[in-house]
Amino acid sequence: MLALVNTPAGSAPVELRDVPEPRPAADEALVEVHAFSLNRGELRLFQIRPEGWRPGQDISGAVLQQAADGSGPKAGTRVVALTDNAGWAERAAVPAHRMAALPDNVRFEEAAALPVAGLTALRTLRHGAPLLGKRVLITGAAGGVGHLAVQIAARSGARITAIVGGPERGRHLRGAEAIVEGIDQAQGPFALILESAGGASLAAAIARVEAKGTIVIFGNSSGEPTSISFRDFAEHPNARIQSFSYFTSEAEERFAPDLALLASLVGEGSLKPILVERSWRNLAEIGPQLRDRRIAGKAVFRIDQT
Ligand SMILES: NC(=O)c1ccc[n+]([C@@H]2O[C@H](COP(=O)([O-])OP(=O)(O)OC[C@H]3O[C@@H](n4cnc5c(N)ncnc54)[C@H](OP(=O)(O)O)[C@@H]3O)[C@@H](O)[C@H]2O)c1
Repeated sequence: MLALVNTPAGSAPVELRDVPEPRPAADEALVEVHAFSLNRGELRLFQIRPEGWRPGQDISGAVLQQAADGSGPKAGTRVVALTDNAGWAERAAVPAHRMAALPDNVRFEEAAALPVAGLTALRTLRHGAPLLGKRVLITGAAGGVGHLAVQIAARSGARITAIVGGPERGRHLRGAEAIVEGIDQAQGPFALILESAGGASLAAAIARVEAKGTIVIFGNSSGEPTSISFRDFAEHPNARIQSFSYFTSEAEERFAPDLALLASLVGEGSLKPILVERSWRNLAEIGPQLRDRRIAGKAVFRIDQT
């Protein structure tokens, strides 16, 4: 079968190659992959992982063969799934507890946007629950995680200020009370802040968190460090900085229900992933656009099954 393979020394970061068919373990289903998405974090993995490594975490497709232990969706079920790697292939072996069935009206392309970005949006927001009526600040709001977080927070009743890098970046955002270009323009205080830019943005977030509020730091897109001291919290007593990793933030058995929740939100129309859709043969040209902040929402790739 065909799969995308890491080629750090090549002219493109990944290349389509013939690879052996997957051999699922007893608790893994065999999935025919229809679509997948690319995350900012994966751009870095292309550089640090060896030649021949098989990328791919966010996938959607149809179950060809249920897990041999009888767990998870049956053959024929349309699913969204989170794999450890090797998902960008015509077929993939996927742990049965890391997939969820898709409502009939959810397209494979929409579903592929959900695993890493959707779980991150959903789970970072839980640090501020219940959100009804609370003021929430979301940095990187035009990006993959950010635009989903804005919509989920709005669905939960939060009053959202979204930070974007320019006027065109906020054009597709739905559900924010205010969209501002740069965190310096955000009027606080906020009960919950989702911070992924790092550097000066994190320092500005501390200046805008309310007493006993929470700043969830889940990325450092700028690559810049932040200098902080106890005195920065003088006007924000007992505020908390919470680090976050989507993969370990909740128990393994929570993956399937959380993926199902995200898929159901798409099905009911309250979560609409913003997509740039391409064939998987075009991944190499989209990577630099994602790196340079020219993709609004998620970059999603269709696998043209041969
Ligand atoms: N901890 C976890 O579990 C976890 C999970 C997923 C993602 N992440 C991290 O969370 C961040 C967001 O992920 P994502 O997939 O949403 O990425 P993305 O789609 O590339 O979105 C990132 C957004 O951040 C904004 N940004 C602000 N300052 C930036 C800078 N200096 N460089 C680059 N972007 C900047 C950009 O929007 P504007 O151009 O509009 O400002 C961009 O749209 C990344 O750092 C990623 O590595 C962490």
